[in-house]
Amino acid sequence: MSLANPTTNDLTVETMVGAGGHSAEFLRRTGPQGRLLGLDRDPAILEVARGALEPFGERVKLVEAESGALRDALGRSQWGPAQILFMDLGVSSLQLDDSRRGFSFSKDGPLDMRMGRKGVTASEWLATTPCAEMERAFRTYGDEPFARRIAAEVSERAEKRRFSTTSELATFIAELVPHRLRGRSPIHPATRVFQAIRIAVNDELGLLERTLPQAWEALAPGGRLVVISFHSGEDRIVKEFMRGLQQEATGTRLVKKPIKAGDEEVARNPRSRSACLRAALKSPPPDRRRHWERDREEDEDA
Ligand SMILES: C[S@@+](CC[C@H](N)C(=O)[O-])C[C@H]1O[C@@H](n2cnc3c(N)ncnc32)[C@H](O)[C@@H]1O
Repeated sequence: MSLANPTTNDLTVETMVGAGGHSAEFLRRTGPQGRLLGLDRDPAILEVARGALEPFGERVKLVEAESGALRDALGRSQWGPAQILFMDLGVSSLQLDDSRRGFSFSKDGPLDMRMGRKGVTASEWLATTPCAEMERAFRTYGDEPFARRIAAEVSERAEKRRFSTTSELATFIAELVPHRLRGRSPIHPATRVFQAIRIAVNDELGLLERTLPQAWEALAPGGRLVVISFHSGEDRIVKEFMRGLQQEATGTRLVKKPIKAGDEEVARNPRSRSACLRAALKSPPPDRRRHWERDREEDEDA
């Protein structure tokens, strides 16, 4: 929150609003005139956010949209530019905990994993994705060491008979682990593959690449882009994007190395263990830099 530096009356845009926890905090800190435009691709989660943010009334606009539609959503809102652009990537614990969504195998459910209404389900993805592409997804999105073997077996089985539930797939993968290695790992053998399928089905990395330039464009000079990612592939994309801003002198990285959660936060919220935060400050155009600095000093004195 401190890197986003919320100040009274700021406009915050949150491209993954989730249940609205961060949004509520931004609205508290930017009151009384501060506004928030929140996007989420998941209509069920957006309803939860609507309830949580209702007390802020007209100061909030929520839109069911993928982050890749940010430019359009901001244009339609007739708000902007933003002082804060906040992106908390990945999946929400509400989605993970709802067995009907099929993100997790801890309870049985349909093998769906779509965050929004669009696209193919995980079950369809497994039945239609070529084996080599599946292997690449398991390796790059899941860091799965047995990617080749699992992809070969899973695609052969899915061609004959589709996987339709989460426990069916999790059990099938667990049985592929060689006997001598069973029980050695602290995580379930299907954990990495489930993460990889979720990232592929929701095109999470592709959307991140399409969203970052729009997020930057949506910011006012002096505005801040703050991104929390949970996977090395995501963090690499954010790192490269922010390095590019620095090279083009359109922005400054606020942190060189990603910020990780401390022990206390991890104890409170175990999901934060893999979180990486990066932030950048948007520079004003060179011909406006002196004016902008003077205006900012005046605002701070006021
Ligand atoms: C980690 S949660 C956000 C949590 C939120 N910051 C909070 O305080 O509750 C991620 C949310 O982003 C949404 N999401 C993920 N990728 C998205 C995308 N590309 N576009 C829009 N929403 C997305 C998911 O549906 C989920 O609700």
